[in-house]
Amino acid sequence: MSKRSENRLADIQDLEPSLEEFRTSVVDGLSSPQKTLPCKFLYDERGSQIFDDICDLPEYYPTRTERRILERHARDIATLAGPQPRLIEFGSGAGTKVRLLLRALDRPAAYLPVEISREYMIAAAEDLAESFPELRIAPVCADYTEPFTLPELPDIDHGTTMGFFPGSTIGNFTRAEAVDFLSVTRNLMGPGAIMIVGVDLVKDLDVLRAAYNDAAGVTAAFNLNLLRRINRELGGTFDLSTFRHDARWNAELERIEMHLVSLREQEVAVGTLRFNFQEGETIHTESSHKYRLDGFGELAREAGYEPVEVWTDDKQLFSVHALRTL
Ligand SMILES: C[S@@+](CC[C@H](N)C(=O)[O-])C[C@H]1O[C@@H](n2cnc3c(N)ncnc32)[C@H](O)[C@@H]1O
Repeated sequence: MSKRSENRLADIQDLEPSLEEFRTSVVDGLSSPQKTLPCKFLYDERGSQIFDDICDLPEYYPTRTERRILERHARDIATLAGPQPRLIEFGSGAGTKVRLLLRALDRPAAYLPVEISREYMIAAAEDLAESFPELRIAPVCADYTEPFTLPELPDIDHGTTMGFFPGSTIGNFTRAEAVDFLSVTRNLMGPGAIMIVGVDLVKDLDVLRAAYNDAAGVTAAFNLNLLRRINRELGGTFDLSTFRHDARWNAELERIEMHLVSLREQEVAVGTLRFNFQEGETIHTESSHKYRLDGFGELAREAGYEPVEVWTDDKQLFSVHALRTL
């Protein structure tokens, strides 16, 4: 890393969830009648790497479609942000899409990625510092569903605060959770801030199912990696060959659900605790809610935002919403 970028890249603000929090979530989730595991734990370092592979899959339309929308409208977004914005990205991952914004924005004052996958975020922030040596970068490792604060940057003079929440990660929340999350980010950013959110749309079911059941089995590897993580970090005894990935459409809730299906009756230990599985019983690991344009606008209003613009691709596969905090 160059001397210059080192100076501009602040030490990480580290609020990574503890092992104890992970254990509690796993034990609670596996003890409920429909076994569940929180999707945020899919993203250890390996999970983040596999997610990046998913983004390149031919079936996984969201990433390339959102990229195209952002490329086409980066200037419109820059106009909304005005000069010297402070940019906060929620669930920043590899930090690739934000580069499109950073190139278009007028002298961005600071970039604050907020991300649960610690090592992955550090590597991404270092890469970004190389590419944008003038940019002040202040990474935050945190679970954004829990209270956290942003680093203060008293030496930075910034204009509008702009939130960035791409990847349709908002679809991982239920509708009520999405309203709560946007309300929290509204308070965090203050009045007059702009929020750019990528939102996946309801569409042909074959397209949706294929995106989450890819032929190469990469999404399956992503899902099963959660069991591997439990084995490694919590002393689990999951035999990965006795579970299979399944992604199904829940028509009532308009969401894709990822499950891990037990292929036989079995008992699995997590540390000193034992959990029983029937053959065919599932662990629900992730939901991806799909929206309609007006439905998401309504949700944003409930969370205290004024919808300003919405952009989509020609096939109406994906949408990017610009919202303003009230
Ligand atoms: C669907 S991926 C999107 C990644 C990237 N923003 C993109 O658009 O390609 C979700 C990202 O959010 C992060 N994430 C998920 N839940 C989180 C949480 N509760 N707190 C912080 N980050 C989270 C994941 O680690 C991952 O990088």
